[in-house]
Amino acid sequence: MPTYVVTGAARGIGLGLVTQLLDAGQTVVAAIRSATPSEGLSKLASTHTSQLFILQCDLASADSVKAFGQELAKKISSVDVLINNAGICTIPEDETPSNLQPRIITEQFNINVIGTLLVTDAVEPLFHAGTKIINISSFMASMETVLSMAMENGTSYGISKAALNMLTVNQALHYTECIVVAIDPGTVATDMNPEGESTVADCAAKMLAVESRLKIEDTGSFLSLEGTKRPW
Ligand SMILES: NC(=O)c1ccc[n+]([C@@H]2O[C@H](COP(=O)([O-])OP(=O)(O)OC[C@H]3O[C@@H](n4cnc5c(N)ncnc54)[C@H](OP(=O)(O)O)[C@@H]3O)[C@@H](O)[C@H]2O)c1
Repeated sequence: MPTYVVTGAARGIGLGLVTQLLDAGQTVVAAIRSATPSEGLSKLASTHTSQLFILQCDLASADSVKAFGQELAKKISSVDVLINNAGICTIPEDETPSNLQPRIITEQFNINVIGTLLVTDAVEPLFHAGTKIINISSFMASMETVLSMAMENGTSYGISKAALNMLTVNQALHYTECIVVAIDPGTVATDMNPEGESTVADCAAKMLAVESRLKIEDTGSFLSLEGTKRPW
């Protein structure tokens, strides 16, 4: 059975992915920010004792991510799929390109981009030919979408996810034997986006369906939940 690593697994889309992967019998490493698992993850741990490993991994701390990589190597010998799901989104109501707050841009860049690249580096020793790396992006990263929808709000978050897309392309060029993609989950009802259109369960199911169909030719792509190419 393949082994998955999912970051930001305590709640939201990450927890939904872990739930469905465990139900499908996969081995899952749930990487979480805090030292204590969430209630949802604890419940899963009590029913899937041999399949689930819970490890702390705070993307805001290079030391935490490094320690995560070391602990991971003690638990498992290879990673088939890394889902870089952990992320933050801060969109001040009045945010426009003319009043952006450097602190808010920096915080999101640190977690969504630098955190993701640190995790990928930490997991790299366990990659093999064919390992899939999925970076959870956003429609707000798409320059074409933002232009066509004339979206002015969400600039700082969009900047971080657009940078994540560029990281994805560079990772695809670097990890030549792996399949590296960015996926836009659409809008999903979670703490991050209570108004989201789809459910976590629906999003997780579609994302895992896309993951299962990924081929080496897909590397470097930005994909929708249907597996079609999204405009950059
Ligand atoms: N929901 C949407 O509509 C939507 C749309 C487009 C893209 N996305 C992306 O989808 C991903 C998941 O979002 P979500 O909707 O599930 O959000 P969520 O419910 O807010 O969950 C975010 C997860 O990321 C974790 N996280 C935050 N900071 C972290 C850090 N420093 N280190 C490790 N983990 C950290 C959180 O951990 P804690 O529980 O410990 O805080 C939580 O588990 C994100 O990358 C997000 O940008 C979501």
